[in-house]
Amino acid sequence: LHVAVLMGGWSNERPVSLMSGEGVAKALESKGHRVTRIDMDREVAQRLAEAKPDVVFNALHGAPGEDGTVQGMMDLMGLTYTHSGLATSVIAIDKELTKQALVPHGVPMPGGRVVETESLFAGDPLPRPYVLKPVNEGSSVGVAIVREEGNYGNPISRDAKGPWQEFEQLLAEPYIRGRELTTAVIGERALLVTELKPKSGFYDFDSKYTDGMTEHVCPAEIPDEITEACKALALRAHQLLGCKGTSRSDFRWDDTQGVEGLFLLETNTQPGMTPLSLVPEQARACGVEYPDLVEMIIAEALA
Ligand code: DAL
Ligand code: MG
Repeated sequence: LHVAVLMGGWSNERPVSLMSGEGVAKALESKGHRVTRIDMDREVAQRLAEAKPDVVFNALHGAPGEDGTVQGMMDLMGLTYTHSGLATSVIAIDKELTKQALVPHGVPMPGGRVVETESLFAGDPLPRPYVLKPVNEGSSVGVAIVREEGNYGNPISRDAKGPWQEFEQLLAEPYIRGRELTTAVIGERALLVTELKPKSGFYDFDSKYTDGMTEHVCPAEIPDEITEACKALALRAHQLLGCKGTSRSDFRWDDTQGVEGLFLLETNTQPGMTPLSLVPEQARACGVEYPDLVEMIIAEALA
């Protein structure tokens, strides 16, 4: 096959996408496929038209590769591509729209609301501790935990370094104490549950991409009931959102509350494919090596 691997782009997750894309490209070459690497810029449509690939592997993270824009362009061009399509991407990149799509169907997600950043300096939108995050970023870019101890001031100080310096609106959600869990879905099957144990206590950008900063426990050492609930919810979210190829749902679990303490935070339609990433790790734990995983995702796109 001739596969164009789309990577890079200009989101905050550009470096992650370059790692994902290079991993995918090397894996495809190791399987004898012809690969065209495309670092996405404003000429991406022209590059794709010139390359004339059999299929595009979308290894982009963040906007515009994960928010439906690139998917719509490829739809217009008649290209076959991996992962989710336009409508799913538009909803899943936006954590508030995701809630509106999933909560009415019984998927437990944290409450909270979108607030104007400016309002934060007048007072807290929710009781502390709470989390502030941009509605449509990935890899924990711009996530802050506002703690009872007033780590950013109380009220939040305009001068404190945090996402309020960069984003006009933020999603405020109650902070769920406890544990960080994640489940990949490939095809129509939920794989496993991984527990992330960041050494810093916060699974932020550095903890995600610096080797050794986070322990991955796969499969997670949690009660069967919680494992089954994560798998069922990840599959349900994948299906309700209409995801294709693969997705990864992230959870917080308050382990003092049993299954009532489990909340889905979001479903990622373009989960990381770097060597430290979680979907490849779960696939490997299920006996699927990385190059085979890449081929499986492509096979689903071509089906
Ligand atoms: N947003 C990153 C790439 C992930 O979900 O893995
Ligand atoms: Mg994400």
